[in-house]
Amino acid sequence: MKKLKMSMMVSCALVMLSFVLMSFVQEKKPWDVPAKYQSMTNPQAADDAEMIKIGKMNYARHCKSCHGNIGKGDGPKARSIDADLGDFTSAEFQAQKDGVIYYQSFIGRDDMPNFEKKIVDEEDRWAIVTYLRTLKK
Ligand code: HEC
Repeated sequence: MKKLKMSMMVSCALVMLSFVLMSFVQEKKPWDVPAKYQSMTNPQAADDAEMIKIGKMNYARHCKSCHGNIGKGDGPKARSIDADLGDFTSAEFQAQKDGVIYYQSFIGRDDMPNFEKKIVDEEDRWAIVTYLRTLKK
């Protein structure tokens, strides 16, 4: 009897532990990006210093508080957000198409704000994408 109770307690603890672990290892939800955005390409050259400068400035103003200094998702505001903010320096992030990054950045979803009204100028928007491209390892 004692043995049975013990094994029940152990299996209960294991079930609870696996729930805790599952909430940590949450799979990143894939982005459903409309075709219109998928086919967009960045009109700016990857090494356009002027655009990188403008992009960096706007990143610092609008994005850094959540995405952090170099895009690792560790800004001060990120602490109170459950969603995975991604890592702009990762190969996985950088492998995404320009238009996908544009959609994520300016249309957003859930805890990722929409910036269509705050960053109106197309050149300013692409400058942020150009800047994000410089963050790769
Ligand atoms: C209030 C916090 C916050 C701010 C400010 C913010 N973001 Fe985000 N961002 C998020 C969150 C949260 C996610 C994850 C959303 C999800 O996956 O549902 C995200 C996701 C993203 C992604 C997709 C990352 C990936 O790998 O899936 C990109 C790109 C992005 N943000 C760019 C930007 C840019 C560019 C700005 C500034 C113009 C910005 N974000 C400002 C919170 C923020």
